[in-house]
Amino acid sequence: MLLGISSCTNEYISDGRQVCFEQEVLPLIVSTCAREGCHNPATREKDYDLTQFNDILKMVEPGSYRKSELYKVITNPFSPMPPKPYDRLSKEQITTISLWIEQGAVNAVCMAEACDTSFVSYSGIVKPILDLYCNGCHAGPRPQGGVDYNSFNGVRTTVDDGSLISSIIRDGNTVNMPKNGNKLPDCKIQQIKKWVQDGAKNN
Ligand code: HEC
Repeated sequence: MLLGISSCTNEYISDGRQVCFEQEVLPLIVSTCAREGCHNPATREKDYDLTQFNDILKMVEPGSYRKSELYKVITNPFSPMPPKPYDRLSKEQITTISLWIEQGAVNAVCMAEACDTSFVSYSGIVKPILDLYCNGCHAGPRPQGGVDYNSFNGVRTTVDDGSLISSIIRDGNTVNMPKNGNKLPDCKIQQIKKWVQDGAKNN
């Protein structure tokens, strides 16, 4: 649609949307590049720990996504990262990363938006949070740690056994999630808690 073509790719870049490293880029990279055995602090595949800004920056030419190794590897038509059996990144995900690079690849934390917990649905709020922060590791062809978020029931299982909330609030009874990533923003934790309190419905 907009990337990988040699011309006319600047339109989307001037759409004014500011990409936030901390909220949008880092969770995506942790969840898709720092899976077990890959570029995480324990296994450091190819000596990259892609949970760290400085290591991510080694693959980036700030201001030019086209010159950036990161962009090249995720869009490589023959052997893209992440490797098989994982899915390639979606167009939207590639756009987010490219925009961030084009905007200078800064380590920015954007202002948190007002936190709305009045009505939290699964499809509208919880699923998008899981998709960004968790599902690179917990959905797709090889869900990790026996936690399979490909289906709603898989999510529901971790609500019922308490591990979803425990792992994101990091109370020490389960492994901290997102694994190798930062704690979820407080608002997202409040929203997931509210959804659980309201019965964790598939709504
Ligand atoms: C980088 C990969 C990765 C990401 C991202 C990730 N997880 Fe995990 N998760 C794992 C692995 C691996 C395990 C198994 C425990 C272990 O080996 O540390 C696990 C275990 C779990 C468990 C079981 C914990 C326990 O101790 O019983 C839950 C629940 C869980 N993850 C939920 C989540 C949620 C919710 C998110 C997003 C907010 C998330 N995970 C993000 C890799 C990940």
